[in-house]
Amino acid sequence: MAWWPRLRPDDRNLRPHEAPGQCIAPAASRNAAGILAVLSDHLPESGRALELASGTGQHVTACAAQHPGITWQPSEIDESRLESVRQWVDASEQANLLAPLRLDATRAPYPGAPYDVILLVNLFHLVSEEECWAILTNSAAALADGGLLCFYGPFLRDGRFASAGDRAFHAHLQGIDPGVGYKDVRDLRNWLASRGFTVKECRDMPANNLMWVCRKAG
Ligand SMILES: C[S@@+](CC[C@H](N)C(=O)[O-])C[C@H]1O[C@@H](n2cnc3c(N)ncnc32)[C@H](O)[C@@H]1O
Repeated sequence: MAWWPRLRPDDRNLRPHEAPGQCIAPAASRNAAGILAVLSDHLPESGRALELASGTGQHVTACAAQHPGITWQPSEIDESRLESVRQWVDASEQANLLAPLRLDATRAPYPGAPYDVILLVNLFHLVSEEECWAILTNSAAALADGGLLCFYGPFLRDGRFASAGDRAFHAHLQGIDPGVGYKDVRDLRNWLASRGFTVKECRDMPANNLMWVCRKAG
C-alpha cells in the first residue's frame, strides 16, 4: 500500500482562515450542518471518536462542540492540512478535542484504539478499491464492539451515477488516476457486511451525497 494518498489533496479548494496555516474548505462549510444532524441522531452521549482524513479540521471541531461528552481525535495524512487542524484545535479551546495525529487511514493499526465512533468524510472516491477495503478493515479492528463507523461522500447507486455532474467528476478523477473513483453502494454493503458491520442508516444528503452510519457487531 502506498504511503502517500493516490490523489494529492487539491489546495486550490482551500481558503485561508484566521490563524496562519488555518484553512476553510467551502465544501466542508456547506456540508457540515447536514453531517452533524445525522451524527446527532446516532452518536452516544460519551465515548471516544476518531476522525480519519480530517482535512482542514472544521468538521471535527464542530463535532467536538456538538458532542462535548465525546473525546475527539482528529487525524490526517497531509502535513499542511495537519497544520490547519492544529490551528482549529488551538482556536477552539475545547478540552474534548485532542491534538491531531498524522495517520494514513489505509495503514493499521489506528493508534488509540478502541474507539466508539470513527468518522470519515469525502475520502472513499479518492482512493482505490483496495485502499477502501483497508480503511474498512482497519476501522473494524479499531472500533469497540457496537461502535459506529460513519462516512459521507458521493457514491454510485447500483451502477448508476446520481447525476451528470457525478459522472463527470468520477471521469475527472479517473483521468488523474484510473485506480480511484466512486464506489458503488451495492459493493459497499457487501464489504461492510463481510467485516461485521450492520448498516443502521444510509441517508440521502444534499448534492447527491450519502451519509452512512454502520454498527460493528458485538
Ligand atoms: C476531499 S478531502 C476531505 C477532507 C475533510 N474530511 C472534509 O470533508 O473537509 C480528502 C482528505 O483526505 C486526506 N487523505 C487522502 N488520503 C488519505 C489517507 N490515506 N489517509 C488519511 N487521509 C487521507 C487528504 O489529505 C485530504 O485532506
